[in-house]
Amino acid sequence: MKNIFKIAIVLIAIVSLGSCQNDNKPNYQYMPNMYESVGYEAYGDYEVFEPVTGGSSAMVPAEGSIMRGWMPYEIENTPEGKAFAKANLKNKVPFTEETEAKGKELYEIYCGICHGKKGDGNGYLVEREKILGVPAYNDAGRAITEGSIYHVMYYGINSMGSYASQMTEEELWMVDHYVLTLKDKLDGKEARPYDVVEAVEEIHTDEDHHSDSQDHDIEH
Ligand code: HEC
Repeated sequence: MKNIFKIAIVLIAIVSLGSCQNDNKPNYQYMPNMYESVGYEAYGDYEVFEPVTGGSSAMVPAEGSIMRGWMPYEIENTPEGKAFAKANLKNKVPFTEETEAKGKELYEIYCGICHGKKGDGNGYLVEREKILGVPAYNDAGRAITEGSIYHVMYYGINSMGSYASQMTEEELWMVDHYVLTLKDKLDGKEARPYDVVEAVEEIHTDEDHHSDSQDHDIEH
């Protein structure tokens, strides 16, 4: 009887001491390398990286690196650069019903507020007299081209800001298509025909080149 009593006390002591352990902390680790990585943690601070990054293990890309699919715009933001773009820069995004529709959507988000839905320079802000000097796209003195439109969207011009950080290269070119559509309408010209050839090639691309379709999208 006495023994059972003693055993009971010991058991109670063990059970109650067992609950003293703090669940928030890891228990004793017999082989810590199983838990703690020997390698450098991402964004960890280490002495060895100090000369390169100031300590962080996260390295910056090598100088001159560019994002996959992104092409640097090499024409300078100068009057000569603009003249060069106006004469030589061409839209490589195919002109189709889809790219035109997407361009219209983006145009109405970013440009319509000043340039107006029709591109006549009578956007909401102009009507409210919040901004002056917004030209119509068929302004004869400006004689805009696909290249000059891109250049102006990329760098901005006077009170018009740059859109380079708000849209991708492809999106800018789709807006470019739509600006020319508006210009043609203002001039009373017939709508430009869509690029049929490119559209056929695109279907071809989707079927045959699954792996590198990304590169193809950008090239076209
Ligand atoms: C805040 C109002 C505003 C917005 C938004 C705006 N623009 Fe402009 N835009 C202007 C003004 C003002 C000018 C005339 C600038 C000048 O020549 O002084 C201009 C000029 C232009 C020109 C003629 C440039 C030339 O070569 O003379 C084009 C093309 C153009 N904008 C396209 C766009 C497109 C495309 C967008 C949308 C991505 C856009 N703009 C958004 C105000 C705006």
